[in-house]
Amino acid sequence: MAIKTIIEPFRIKSVEPIYFNTKQEREAILQKASYNVFGIASRDVLIDLLTDSGTSAMSSRQWGGIMEGDESYAGSPSFYRFESMVKRITGMQYIIPTHQGRASEKILFSAVGGKGKTIISNTLFDTTRANIEFSGSTGIDLLCTEGKDPLKAAPFKGNMDVEALEPTIQKVGAANIPMVIITVTNNSVGGQPVSMANLKAVAAICKKHKIPFFIDCCRFAENAYFIKKREAGFENRTIESIAQEMFSLADGCSMSAKKDAFANIGGFLALNDSQLAMECRNLLIITEGFPTYGGLAGRDLEAIAIGLEEVMEESYLQYRIRSMEYLTEKLAAAGVPVMLPAGGHAVYLDAKTFLPHIPASQYPGQSLVCALYEEGGIRAVEIGSLMFGKYDQQHQLIPAALELVRLAIPRRVYTQSHIDYVAEVIIEVYKKRDELKGLQILEEAPLLRHFTAKLKPV
Ligand code: F0G
Repeated sequence: MAIKTIIEPFRIKSVEPIYFNTKQEREAILQKASYNVFGIASRDVLIDLLTDSGTSAMSSRQWGGIMEGDESYAGSPSFYRFESMVKRITGMQYIIPTHQGRASEKILFSAVGGKGKTIISNTLFDTTRANIEFSGSTGIDLLCTEGKDPLKAAPFKGNMDVEALEPTIQKVGAANIPMVIITVTNNSVGGQPVSMANLKAVAAICKKHKIPFFIDCCRFAENAYFIKKREAGFENRTIESIAQEMFSLADGCSMSAKKDAFANIGGFLALNDSQLAMECRNLLIITEGFPTYGGLAGRDLEAIAIGLEEVMEESYLQYRIRSMEYLTEKLAAAGVPVMLPAGGHAVYLDAKTFLPHIPASQYPGQSLVCALYEEGGIRAVEIGSLMFGKYDQQHQLIPAALELVRLAIPRRVYTQSHIDYVAEVIIEVYKKRDELKGLQILEEAPLLRHFTAKLKPV
C-alpha cells in the first residue's frame, strides 16, 4: 500500500512560544489598533498569517551559513556565493543586491520610470505599483479572464491577458513603455501561477515591440512547481530547469528574497543590460550601499544563497503547495467561499461572497480580517478596496475588482494542527457572518493607505 500522507519535510530544532489571549482581550486590542491589524503587536497574535514575507523559518544550513558571513565592505566572498547562485538560476549577467523587493523596485523604476511612461503587468503588487506611480509613471494590469473569478478553478489564473497586450501597446505607444513585468506567482490575485506558455507569449510580443520583459520573481519556485504539475511537457523536468527556462525569457527580474529564498530580509535585481545595470548600481550606492552588499550584511547574502537552493527541493514544494490545498479543501467542504484553486503561498477568502450584506464602501474584507482576529487571534490581510481602492474626483470610492482576505502561510513555520485551528476559526466566523459589520476610514495616507489607516465600525 502506498502511503498517502504528505509530511513536513523537516524536524523542528528551535521553537518560539505562542502567547494565548482571550476573545475579550482581543476585542480591546483591535479597538486600540483602530481596526487595522498592522497596528497589533505580534505578541498579541496567535497565528500570524499577515504575510509569508520575511517570516520563514530558516534551516540549520542557513543558520550555519550566517556564521560564515563575511562582512567586508567590498568584495566579500559571501557576495560572490550569492551572485553565483542568482546567476545559476536566472542566467542574468548583472546581480545587484538590495535590502528587499521594494528597494529593487525603487531603483528600477527611478531608472526606467518617470512621467509619461506606462508599465504593463499581469497584476502589479502594491509596492510595485506604488513605486511606479511614485516615479510619475502609470501601471496597467492586464489579467486573464479566469483570474477575475475567485471561485472558479483554472490551472493558470495568474496569466496575463495576452490578447489585450498588443492593443494596449498600440494605444500607449511602445516608446512610452519601459517594460512589461509579470508577477510570478500573481500575489494580488490569489498567488495563482503563470504558465510557461503565457510567459513565452508575452516575451515574444515584447521582443517584437523591443520592450524589455521583466519578471517579479518573489515566488519563482512556487510558480515553477505549478508549471511542473499543471503544464504539459514539464512533468519530468527539475524545478531548477523550469525556473531557468522562465528566466531565460526575460531581460531582467526583481526579487524579494523574503519569500522564495527563506530569508528574513533581502532582495536583488538581476539584469542583462549593462547600461541599465550601471544606472541601477549608481542609485544603489546612494540609497542602499556598495554593489557587493547592497542593503545587506554578508550573513544575509549567505542565507539567501542557501535558501535559493533549498527552495527548489521538490519535497519542500510538494509539502508547501499541499498545505494551501489542505486548508482550501477544509474550508470549501464547509461552504466557505474560498479562492479556487489554492494559491502558492496563501489561501484567499472571497469577502464579497462571504459578507454580501457589507458594501465595498464599508470594506467587507477588512471586516472579515477583524473578525478572524477577534474570534481566534488569527492575523490575515485585506487585499481589496482598502488596499487597492481609489477615489474619483468627488471623493467617492472606486472599489477594487476583488474583495479578498489573504491568509499567507509563512514557510516552514506552522504545523498541520495550527492549520486545523485556522480552519475551525474561519468556519466559526462563517457561521456568524450575518453579525459582522462594515467599517469606515477615519484617517489614511495618500499611498499604501492600508498599512496605517485608522478605521471604526459603521
Ligand atoms: N513583489 C511582490 C509580488 C510581492 O509580493 C512583494 C511583497 C514585493 C514585490 C515587495 O517585496 O516586501 O521585500 O519589499 N510582498 C509582501 C506580501 C509584503 O505580504 O505579499 P518586499
